[in-house]
Amino acid sequence: MFSIRIIGAGSIGNHLANAARSRGWQVTLTDIDAAALVRARDSIYPGRYGSWDDAIVLKDSRDAFGDPADVIFIGTPPDSHITIAQETLERVRPRALLIEKPLAGPGLEGCEKLFKMVHKAGVFAAVGYNHCLGQNTERAELAIQSGILGSLQTISARTREHWKGIFGAHPWLSGPADSYLGFSARGGGATGEHSHAINIWQHFANIAGAGRVCEVSATLDMVKQDGANYDQLALLTLRTEHGLVGDVIQDVVTLPVEKSARLQGSGGFVEWRVNHLPGHDAVFSGQANGSVQEELIEKKRPDDFKAEIDHLARVMNGEISQSPISLERGLDTMMVIAAAFKSHALDRRVRIDWNAGYVPEALL
Ligand SMILES: NC(=O)c1ccc[n+]([C@@H]2O[C@H](COP(=O)([O-])OP(=O)(O)OC[C@H]3O[C@@H](n4cnc5c(N)ncnc54)[C@H](O)[C@@H]3O)[C@@H](O)[C@H]2O)c1
Repeated sequence: MFSIRIIGAGSIGNHLANAARSRGWQVTLTDIDAAALVRARDSIYPGRYGSWDDAIVLKDSRDAFGDPADVIFIGTPPDSHITIAQETLERVRPRALLIEKPLAGPGLEGCEKLFKMVHKAGVFAAVGYNHCLGQNTERAELAIQSGILGSLQTISARTREHWKGIFGAHPWLSGPADSYLGFSARGGGATGEHSHAINIWQHFANIAGAGRVCEVSATLDMVKQDGANYDQLALLTLRTEHGLVGDVIQDVVTLPVEKSARLQGSGGFVEWRVNHLPGHDAVFSGQANGSVQEELIEKKRPDDFKAEIDHLARVMNGEISQSPISLERGLDTMMVIAAAFKSHALDRRVRIDWNAGYVPEALL
């Protein structure tokens, strides 16, 4: 049985607590806000999963900071991730450190330092882009590897999701200005909050052998309202080092929600969908003039996080050496996020120099 210490008892902290308990793990759920711990116990957890689980230990994060655990999970707002991760590694050495997405704000503060610290500590670190671990992703990978695409021509990925759903899961927030969500500079807004689309684009580009993203062009629709300052729509064009060109759209205005990625090849296509039908993800594939194969995959929201917990167990058991949610992959996505903001600000394409480290100077 593994143990997990969760920092941040908000929406994601509860998901991970539940997923870890479903696998029999020992769970300590912590927060710096006493009200958040009460809310987790009395409202979020029983509201989502039926009843509170007395085996979960609740603690103030500051009192628990030096407590050892196999896995430490950082589920706080993005602009606090790096500092908490660094302070954690200075105090304890978990077997795995899981940090929520996006890893940081678009200023990339501390990214390179954290990368070096993790490397030196020899700890497995990951970023919570859990769509990479979904069964729909595994099925799409098999379809890509079957050769159905022929030669890959482009990838399009979408996380177009009105953030009404997010605010529904956070009834204690009065609106975007009330949390990091309403501030792109803190990792909120469409580019940061919905960066699953950038990440899955990069994941499939990697599976298809197209290499890393080296060029980004972005147009962001910025909103300044009631003290908030965020991008509600992000349109990105990406080019990889091997010349693959494609696009990503992320927004916080679309209803009904669209979460998809499509790989189009010279011979066929593979399309990946999240929540295609209620309770179901899906993968479509086919050849240009042939019939379309449709695979429906049953999935409920808690399954996303159970897959993450199972993945960490397999990493700790030595069954996996290359993880699609590794810190390096999360940093790759961070660089594209940062490049998007720079591209929008300068009104031109931005290149990523991967030899320069995870620093703003790498964006040319
Ligand atoms: N992977 C996913 O599917 C997914 C889903 C939801 C949220 N997230 C990510 O999880 C992160 C948190 O989102 P959320 O919706 O849970 O936010 P939230 O506001 O519901 O919860 C964050 C909690 O962190 C606590 N906190 C803040 N600073 C802290 C500190 N220094 N130490 C301890 N606790 C601290 C806050 O008091 C709060 O209770 C974000 O990065 C978000 O993008 C990911």
